[in-house]
Amino acid sequence: MSSHPRPALAVIGGSGFYDFFDNDATHVEIDTPYGKPSAPVAIGEVEGRAVAFIPRHGKQHEFAPHTLPYQANMWALRTLGVRRIFAPCAVGSLRADWGPGTVAVPDQLVDRTSGRPQTFFDGGGVHVSFADPYCDELRTAAIKSESPSLAVQPSGTMVVVQGPRFSTRAESRWFAGQGWDLVNMTGHPEAVLARELEMCYAAVALVTDLDAGLEEGDGVHAVDVFAEFKRNLEPFKELIRGAVAGVDGTDTCDRCRVHAGVSLPFELP
Ligand code: ADE
Repeated sequence: MSSHPRPALAVIGGSGFYDFFDNDATHVEIDTPYGKPSAPVAIGEVEGRAVAFIPRHGKQHEFAPHTLPYQANMWALRTLGVRRIFAPCAVGSLRADWGPGTVAVPDQLVDRTSGRPQTFFDGGGVHVSFADPYCDELRTAAIKSESPSLAVQPSGTMVVVQGPRFSTRAESRWFAGQGWDLVNMTGHPEAVLARELEMCYAAVALVTDLDAGLEEGDGVHAVDVFAEFKRNLEPFKELIRGAVAGVDGTDTCDRCRVHAGVSLPFELP
């Protein structure tokens, strides 16, 4: 196996993040009890820190949101030494005042996915606390990291839908009516799997579109979502780099250590 620095921090995001590092990354092939991650894990430096990166949808965008190897991704990161993860993602907005180009750092999540393996503890007896699904220390670092061109909203509720289709207008209006702010397809089970492996995790959401309930035209289209994400990719990457550089500490924070005092059926990797 090639030698590489041991990363305590990770970013899991779009393949556009490959050039996120200050140096040439090392690519580590890794296998897990849950199969291979979306791609070999890239490990490089950001502001003097070793950081791991996984392109969530694979190198060629070969995984749809419902087929992503979420368990393998999280297991691989933990095995490499990662304890804190930033998860940049594209989202639709459920509110007219958060238009494309807004960045939101959600503090709550609603799971509307189905059939995705969402635990490492099938054997029973382990039930993690998930009242606050995101790490506040990482959220604070992301909120403090500024970008001249992107407005940052410091909280919000993100509903995660199964996809790969976008929501109907009625679904979208219903989500907005619940007071939810953002809609996305990959934020779950990523967040809970990180929690189960006691890794701090924060989603950082870039709004690419107004979802169908707000949209006056013919609904949300993937080409527009990709184009809008690309348009803001550089400042978004700068914001994530600032968040990575601004995190204090490289170990799991106390609040994300959810297994303290619990006897686990296996040791965390
Ligand atoms: N990702 C980006 N925009 C989205 C939307 N409108 N719905 C679900 N996921 C999204």
